[in-house]
Amino acid sequence: MSRPAILFVCLGNICRSPLAEAAFRAAAETAGLDVEADSAGTAGYHIGSPPDPRSVEEAAKHGIDISGYNGRQLTEADFERFTHIFAMDHQNLANIEAVRPAGSRAHVSLVMDLVPGRAGAAIADPYYDGEEQFEATWEDVEAAARALVTKLSV
Ligand code: 4NP
Repeated sequence: MSRPAILFVCLGNICRSPLAEAAFRAAAETAGLDVEADSAGTAGYHIGSPPDPRSVEEAAKHGIDISGYNGRQLTEADFERFTHIFAMDHQNLANIEAVRPAGSRAHVSLVMDLVPGRAGAAIADPYYDGEEQFEATWEDVEAAARALVTKLSV
């Protein structure tokens, strides 16, 4: 397989998808896997912004510094650059498909489809919730990251 290039997508690119990117980068590094990884939002609300402080703190709890990540919006070019695009929820999935250029063959699916027994599940938007929801988000994206690394390692 050519080098996998993975994009994680949520709405704002400040809460869920930066954590998914961080969990995947860490899992890939541990496995010695050479991958490209990034994250983006379907909306343009937080272009250039660092992740939400609650996501920065959650990643830090796991020894990962995401304070230097910058929010950006999904573009048509992402469908050329990335082999796989993973949506956090069903609305993200619909919004991603709406941007897909004609002829693109990038694989687009829900990120939790990666986790056995969780196919079709969404990672709920934690933006209006408490810190415990960021912990739950981390657990979900980490499970997905591990499953993806296993899949890419065979
Ligand atoms: P995210 O969370 O999609 O996980 O980054 C959100 C962040 C910001 C907003 C919504 C969701 N917002 O409405 O600004």
